[in-house]
Amino acid sequence: MDTKKTKTLLFVCLGNICRSPSAEAVMNGIIKKTDQSSEFICDSAGIIGNHEGDRADSRMRSHAARRSYDLTSISRQFRCKTDFDKFDMIIGMDDQNIEDLQSQARSEDDLKKIVKMTDYCTKFTHYKTVPDPYYGGEAGFELVLDLLEDACDGLLNHLNGKL
Ligand code: 4NP
Repeated sequence: MDTKKTKTLLFVCLGNICRSPSAEAVMNGIIKKTDQSSEFICDSAGIIGNHEGDRADSRMRSHAARRSYDLTSISRQFRCKTDFDKFDMIIGMDDQNIEDLQSQARSEDDLKKIVKMTDYCTKFTHYKTVPDPYYGGEAGFELVLDLLEDACDGLLNHLNGKL
């Protein structure tokens, strides 16, 4: 009998319209490509609920589409009462996300689930955050995708015990 438990991953940024929906799509892409779809469930959420119900930012969607990622998720706010129980790992994009998540943790077990995306980079190791692209130009959206591709690869290797 296969007793391997499905791993549940929640990616979190500020608005859940640029970085974390991209992280969700990039991770799902790698998981699908490596034939591990039955082993992982990915979702994303925002610290703030200002964009609740919105599709991902159109600039982010078009940059992602050029790399064949389809950003389908709908923005929602992080819910501490259910998300800490539902997910094995809660992955923030920058230090403020981490601080905001930590402030909502209810226990040591909750705190242990919070990690930072760039900690899994193996190429872009000089980046300590995935920078918010919302108020910037085109290059910011490309950088988000470069960092996420590197970090998601590292995260999956970590979860498979290869790092
Ligand atoms: P995200 O980008 O956190 O990567 O989704 C942002 C989206 C919206 C806002 C800030 C950042 N905002 O202030 O509305």
